[in-house]
Amino acid sequence: MRMVAVLAVAALLTVSACGSGDERRPAAPDTVEVFTWWAEGGEKAGLDALIDRFGQDCAGQRFENGAVAGGAGVNAKQELTGRMTRKDPPDTFQAHAGAELLDYIDAGQVQDLTSAYDSWGLRQAFPTGLIDDLTVNGKIYSVPANVHRANVVWANPAVLKRAGVSGVPRDLPAFLADLATLKAAGVEAPLALGRDWTQLMVLEAVLISDLGAQRFAGLFTGATPWSGADVAAAIADFGRLVAYGNADRDALDWPQAERLLIDGKAGYQVMGDWEAADLTAKGFTGYSWFTFPGNGATFQWLADSFTLATGAPNPDGTRCWLRTVASPEGQRAFNAAKGSIPARTDVSAAGLSLYQQSAMADWKSATQVPSCAHGSACSQGWQSAVNQALTAWSAARDDTALQAALVTAASRFVR
Ligand code: GAL
Repeated sequence: MRMVAVLAVAALLTVSACGSGDERRPAAPDTVEVFTWWAEGGEKAGLDALIDRFGQDCAGQRFENGAVAGGAGVNAKQELTGRMTRKDPPDTFQAHAGAELLDYIDAGQVQDLTSAYDSWGLRQAFPTGLIDDLTVNGKIYSVPANVHRANVVWANPAVLKRAGVSGVPRDLPAFLADLATLKAAGVEAPLALGRDWTQLMVLEAVLISDLGAQRFAGLFTGATPWSGADVAAAIADFGRLVAYGNADRDALDWPQAERLLIDGKAGYQVMGDWEAADLTAKGFTGYSWFTFPGNGATFQWLADSFTLATGAPNPDGTRCWLRTVASPEGQRAFNAAKGSIPARTDVSAAGLSLYQQSAMADWKSATQVPSCAHGSACSQGWQSAVNQALTAWSAARDDTALQAALVTAASRFVR
């Protein structure tokens, strides 16, 4: 009771101090609040490496950690929306390059960084395609920290060996056969699964296998219909894979599903390559990996980028943070710990992990397709609609209803 009263008085004081309903934090001229969803494991290790560089590059500035835990930003994005509405933005926030960033640009929530690109020489530092995904009407709105790959399968080799599974499955039928072998050998959940967006990653990987890279990419531009028989077949394949997963999938975030892999209760997990760093951070270094079966030479990409928020309390300090993110040293330190590869093209692979070296080579040679679960292909509205459809499917297992919901989502959100 007493606590409630104290809080209520504090809240009143805040409101009256800041004026009618504007709850903006008092300006802290030397503090940069960095808002992410990187709160533990390999994600936190990546952020920590950037904080360290920021301390060296931006003397006199203080880092404030605004991280909100929850894979793929499920909680952070909601919190950010609330803060934007209350006109209480952090100085900088994490946003995926592509459609997701366009949401913030359209809403006027991020500032133009074009002049910083020019004065820091960044136009030449990043691949042209990536710059295009950060640009609207000739203006560039964020600084990419990395490139992640989504369509990867991570494996626990000891589990596979015990069950007599060897080699890399070349296609979906071979993968399903290996999952069946694991199941028959008594592995509890051959394929570790988590909540909605992690299931979307599996569905997207299956769609790449079944439709091919070009038709898959067309699903997000309107060139490929979601109503086709090929999408229906992919949903059926997706259901076959999910049947080899853990029953409590909808209650798990990705690190909890990953725990099944580490503990030998699962053989495989489909996850982006933040998993490489996270497994390492958790002391599980004996993992193996392969591109999702049937995806061929397709690299499903996403990129984390940092913005200068509209109304940022400390724009100068934030520019220094962004310069650190963009620098070769910042990109090397961050990516070495985060599992992704540098977005800059002039950072060498030396000293990065074996996985990262292979990803750097693939990024140059493979066909690139975007990710809906991680915002390079889909706006936030589209992501939410698809995630809701998957949660409903996971409970009812109604393939027809799932496809209908995917068709509706595309018709509402395709640009
Ligand atoms: C992605 C993000 C990655 C990683 C992952 C899991 O959306 O781009 O950096 O953090 O979520 O949380």
